[in-house]
Amino acid sequence: MEKVEYVVRPIASEDELKKVIEINAVTLPEHYPYFFWLEHYELWRDIFLVALAGERIVGYNMCRIEYGVGHVKRGIVKQGHVVSIAVLPEFRQRGIATALMTSAMNSMKKKYGADEVYLEVRVSNEPAIRLYEKLGFKKVRVLKRYYLDGEDAYLMAREL
Ligand code: ACO
Ligand code: ZN
Repeated sequence: MEKVEYVVRPIASEDELKKVIEINAVTLPEHYPYFFWLEHYELWRDIFLVALAGERIVGYNMCRIEYGVGHVKRGIVKQGHVVSIAVLPEFRQRGIATALMTSAMNSMKKKYGADEVYLEVRVSNEPAIRLYEKLGFKKVRVLKRYYLDGEDAYLMAREL
């Protein structure tokens, strides 16, 4: 496989946000209204990451911070929530999603003091489930009919 140099960094402009939304449109069935993207861009920019190959945005990881009942820790905890991550098909299996996840988890812990990180993933999405398991996430529970088409989700989480 040809080597691709890439850089991971926080999203820098609303122009970049538009590129991210284009990637989401072609890679995932879950789409969001613009205000939802913009909320993450405005409030949690340092954990809204993009991956660049040269000048081109080829992947993103949009996260947020919440307080809630711990999935792996006890009581009410500070949680990083991975809302949406994707890499363009031509750039997959080169470690880009791993870099997007490790960088986001690092900032969740260092900048926000988050105790744990969680996400939802389709039970059929084996590449993503393997990625998360490789990063130390565990399946915590099944969320029945979580998606609009009726598919179940795994809620996956790990300590930070
Ligand atoms: N088959 C099996 N395992 C895979 C695959 C695959 N096709 N792709 C990745 N993995 C696993 C492997 O364990 C891999 O480690 P390895 O390379 O040592 O075998 C590990 O994931 C890390 O792979 P990366 O190269 O870092 O992942 P990549 O950059 O290819 O991105 C992603 C993975 C984001 C799941 C990509 O396939 C994608 O964009 N899919 C479509 C969108 C999507 O499903 N996003 C996640 C939805 S859930 C959510 O957003 C919270
Ligand atoms: Zn979610």
